[in-house]
Amino acid sequence: MANLSTGTAYYAWFTLYLYDFWVLCISSSFAWGCSTWNILVPFFKSHVGRRHLDVGVGTGYFPARAGDTMEALTLVDLNPSCLSMASRRIPQPKNGTKTFVADALEPRMLPSSLPPSLKSYDSISLMYLIHTLPGPPGYKLQVFRNAKPYLKEKGVVFGATVLGKDVYHNLFAMLLMWVYNRLGIFDNFGDSKEEVMKALKSEFEEVRVEVIGCVLLFVASQPRETSKQE
Ligand SMILES: C[S@@+](CC[C@H](N)C(=O)[O-])C[C@H]1O[C@@H](n2cnc3c(N)ncnc32)[C@H](O)[C@@H]1O
Repeated sequence: MANLSTGTAYYAWFTLYLYDFWVLCISSSFAWGCSTWNILVPFFKSHVGRRHLDVGVGTGYFPARAGDTMEALTLVDLNPSCLSMASRRIPQPKNGTKTFVADALEPRMLPSSLPPSLKSYDSISLMYLIHTLPGPPGYKLQVFRNAKPYLKEKGVVFGATVLGKDVYHNLFAMLLMWVYNRLGIFDNFGDSKEEVMKALKSEFEEVRVEVIGCVLLFVASQPRETSKQE
């Protein structure tokens, strides 16, 4: 990936810390009711595996705090700047970090020409990605089906997403939801725990979910060979 110019690099770091402060510190705790430090970081650490794929990496905050569990890391994002920032920030695992600009809504997220080792993971994370994906749940939750081929038989898919439906939103949350959905930063008014569970259960035998504040934490394993139609 091309080097960032000094100005762009300062801007990138500013954006990175602004994102971490506003989204992961202020919004997570006070709007969504789910502390990044007390809930999301321990959740991430407890599910990340040796070969890990992070989809929608953003600033790389979570993989940067994964400790030394990861031996190999692959980062996927639509935005090349995110990949560039995140891969600089995350300590290099023993077997390195690979980055791919790719769309999680595309069935073949990673290039088919990759060696098998880059197409098979112990864990795949989707942290704060789903609420940003466009479209109704039935469309955007195909992200689970798209991630599944890259999971080892005993691997785990996990993540967190802000729900828009059937959860309590405080005034701050309501304001952010309204602004973000209007600006197209979020598209989650239709996202409920039931919709996410239904989509996960059609792809995985084992599904666990928990709602904290208005954030759904999910963990799924034992991928089904074919999607189960309801
Ligand atoms: C809200 S950020 C979350 C970042 C990070 N996972 C975290 O929890 O801090 C969402 C990230 O997903 C990326 N993203 C959005 N739509 C995507 C898509 N269709 N495919 C891949 N990445 C996407 C964005 O570029 C952004 O980096």
